[in-house]
Amino acid sequence: MCCRFPSGEKPCHRRRVTASISDALLPWYDRHARALPWRNPPGEPRPEDANWPYRVWLSEVMLQQTTVAAVKPYFEKFTRVWPSVDDLAAAREEEVMAAWAGLGYYSRARNLVKCAREVASRGGFPTSEAELLELPGLGPYTAAAIAAIAFGRRAVVVDANVERVVARLFAITEPLPGARRAIRKAADAIAPGARAGDFAQGMMDLGAQICTTKAPRCMLCPLREECRGYASGEPERLPVKPPKQAKPERRGTAYWIERGGAVWLVRRAEKGLLGGMRALPDDGWTARADGSGEAPVAGRATPLGTVRHTFTHAHLTLDVVRIDAESAPDGEGRWWPLAEIEEAGLPTLFAKAARLALAAIN
Ligand code: ADE
Repeated sequence: MCCRFPSGEKPCHRRRVTASISDALLPWYDRHARALPWRNPPGEPRPEDANWPYRVWLSEVMLQQTTVAAVKPYFEKFTRVWPSVDDLAAAREEEVMAAWAGLGYYSRARNLVKCAREVASRGGFPTSEAELLELPGLGPYTAAAIAAIAFGRRAVVVDANVERVVARLFAITEPLPGARRAIRKAADAIAPGARAGDFAQGMMDLGAQICTTKAPRCMLCPLREECRGYASGEPERLPVKPPKQAKPERRGTAYWIERGGAVWLVRRAEKGLLGGMRALPDDGWTARADGSGEAPVAGRATPLGTVRHTFTHAHLTLDVVRIDAESAPDGEGRWWPLAEIEEAGLPTLFAKAARLALAAIN
């Protein structure tokens, strides 16, 4: 029994643990792998295609904190518009930010351009986890995932799905985030040298399809016999989550300023929330509910309605106020044709505000 657990193991035990988990997981992955646009079919040699590491990198950056379903259309669009890392490196940052609109966590888009330029100047992606980690925007998870999936290197790839599978497999009862050390150690103990990319993605697929947060489908799990969480009778209790923190409420005002069939749009400051994204001008989210905050231009103010949006750190109530301006707004911006508002690349919050304004006006 003790040979299943990573603490106090001897090397021969470790080999046995690694083999039993990967021997059970890989045949399951061969049959049940999700067909995803950035994936190589299970068991096949890595593609010779020079753009393969680029596709793996792009998908992994997009998949951070974002679901597979949300990523698919963005991945397809990006690889159609910028089929190679050199194409993306040559793109204007503003264009990439606009194409990213709606995917959230916009610092990823800025880092994406930086990283593409760095990789293009080096003549390609490095292949080791340590060198990948040096690239802009690549954290330990992304570097490990690319090393394993794009280059077949043994790596410890732990995303939220894998975290759940491993916490259950080894019945790690310490609450998150403190449990992450033990989870990583356990994940290291079961990561095989062979088929590293398939193993990593098999663990992800198992977490997404079988070892789900609620109501895990243990009867279909290839690792059931090895799983201490299953043996405990209550696998769904793991991993133990820390108590949820209440999110603060914020309130702000966005301004809808129209002239000759166009609306005034600005580009947000590079630093800060939604940094670098195109947006409606706003008051920095300090305005009062009646829309009496500081507008970028004088004029009659008409409240149009309110949108709600939730960020990772706060809930926001945004009042949308039309300003009938007597002069041009202060600061940098541009008049964007209303007929082309869908192509403005507004992040979700401001896309909601624009929809509300258009519905209220028409
Ligand atoms: N989440 C993060 N990376 C993934 C991948 N390669 N396949 C499926 N889900 C993922």
